[in-house]
Amino acid sequence: MGRGLFITFEGPDGSGKTTQIERLKTFIIKKGYDAVLTREPGGTKIGEKIREIILDKNNTEIDYMTEALLYAAARAQHVSQVIKPALEEGRTVICDRFMDSSIAYQGFGRGLGDSVRVINEYAVNSCFPDITFLMKLDPQIGKLRIKAEAQDRLELEKLDYHKKVFRAYEELEKTFPERIIGIDASRSIDEISNEIQFHIESLMDKLN
Ligand code: TMP
Repeated sequence: MGRGLFITFEGPDGSGKTTQIERLKTFIIKKGYDAVLTREPGGTKIGEKIREIILDKNNTEIDYMTEALLYAAARAQHVSQVIKPALEEGRTVICDRFMDSSIAYQGFGRGLGDSVRVINEYAVNSCFPDITFLMKLDPQIGKLRIKAEAQDRLELEKLDYHKKVFRAYEELEKTFPERIIGIDASRSIDEISNEIQFHIESLMDKLN
């Protein structure tokens, strides 16, 4: 039994990641594989505690580097406790956000630059996604889809911040064209899931 497939989803808040992740899980299970759904920050008991600290609207004093390190700390725990063991058991892992989020939101959005990539190289310990779906949706539209009162500390950031993050994602897509698949997330749920399933089938065929 080989290592499982590691799939991540990225994109602005409100871009429909959760819906597509659920659909992809059903698709993968129908194909006879075991799939684990998980998310960042979080996915472990420790990671969920760190998530509470990072996303708490009252924690306005968090330093940007502290924020980046907390995301990376939650990720290190997630990789070692959940992602790596599942992949080694041959299970498919579908993760809602991963290292690219930190590079876009902290590296570019907060202006921390390459230090974020370096920190995360340690955190992920050579466990990189096989394929990443970047849900491309105008961040303004994404923001409108989330009720104001339900927005967390990051979501409450100004639109300019979210636009900067989106541009960073587009740069990442250009830098890693073999791994990052840009998906036009303004289309219908069915159109989007068909495209995602097509890419997963192609990848599975290539690997088998
Ligand atoms: P979520 O709403 O997709 O669960 O993610 C929570 C917020 O955290 C979201 O606004 C994106 C942000 N985030 C980062 O800034 N850096 C990261 O590394 C991750 C995983 C998420």
